[in-house]
Amino acid sequence: MTTSVTVRVPAKVNVQLAVGPARPDGFHDLANVFLAVGLYDEVTVTETDAFSLTCTGPGSDQVPLDRTNLAARAALALAERHGLGDPKVRIHIAKDIPVAGGMAGGSADAAGALVACDALWGTNASRAELLDICAELGSDVPFSLVGGAALGTGRGERLEPLDVGGEFWWVFAVADGGLSTPAVYREFDRLSPDAPAPVASPALLDALRTGDVAALAASVTNDLQPAALSLFPSLKSTLDAGRGAGALAALVSGSGPTTAFLAADEAAARAVASALVASGTCRAARVACSPAQGAVLISG
Ligand code: C5P
Repeated sequence: MTTSVTVRVPAKVNVQLAVGPARPDGFHDLANVFLAVGLYDEVTVTETDAFSLTCTGPGSDQVPLDRTNLAARAALALAERHGLGDPKVRIHIAKDIPVAGGMAGGSADAAGALVACDALWGTNASRAELLDICAELGSDVPFSLVGGAALGTGRGERLEPLDVGGEFWWVFAVADGGLSTPAVYREFDRLSPDAPAPVASPALLDALRTGDVAALAASVTNDLQPAALSLFPSLKSTLDAGRGAGALAALVSGSGPTTAFLAADEAAARAVASALVASGTCRAARVACSPAQGAVLISG
């Protein structure tokens, strides 16, 4: 009998994040083009006598270890739907995705815990049920489950898979400090009170489909970037340092404060990463390739 299951889940970057006005429920309608990137957390769930959660890796001291953790909430939601009572499971998160960085690390852990618990408990939830639970947990969680590339509409949770015709190399600069996603959306509302309805860019979808890195660099956009820069002004020097080192495009990742740099190829990405670290404008720089697979069982 299986007593332990490990699932690997990727980070994401938003290559387009078009944001509309605030809705009556407080969320914003989005045209959100997600791309999964090859930086991964691993979530292991193990049968035990009482619920517990542990976390290791960079930034793990900032991760809550109680039932407010999105991975814990995912396990509780699956157990509740299947009438399993209080889940007797130990969840361990081995973090490699920057914490609180706009790269969907918490969402990845939730998707990972869900897939892992489903395998551990033999609940055999359908893909549709898993996606439904993901959408209840957060706007980015469904994408962490599916990976690859997708257009998210609604608050980002309604996904349409996208074709990607090549690989894209990225550098992610990890900032010193964090940004609260709701605070960044509030600042967006203040700066853009008349935001138009969000629309996916045909040029960007075309660049993904054809694997054309120059065309993708010319079409990436993030409507939350002015708000993130307003709350975290020093990010501008990180963006400038990456551009100066030859990045083809530089943008804030999601709600930030991680910044993302698109490079021509792997060698260029490694050069941009070294230059970013040398510039002293970030805490660390990580190189990753996209697209990456969604949540996948690696043992158990
Ligand atoms: O859905 P999630 O929990 O990831 O969202 C975190 C916060 O980000 C929300 O509480 C909301 O303030 C903001 N948000 C938003 N519109 C979206 C997604 C998130 O305003 N489409």
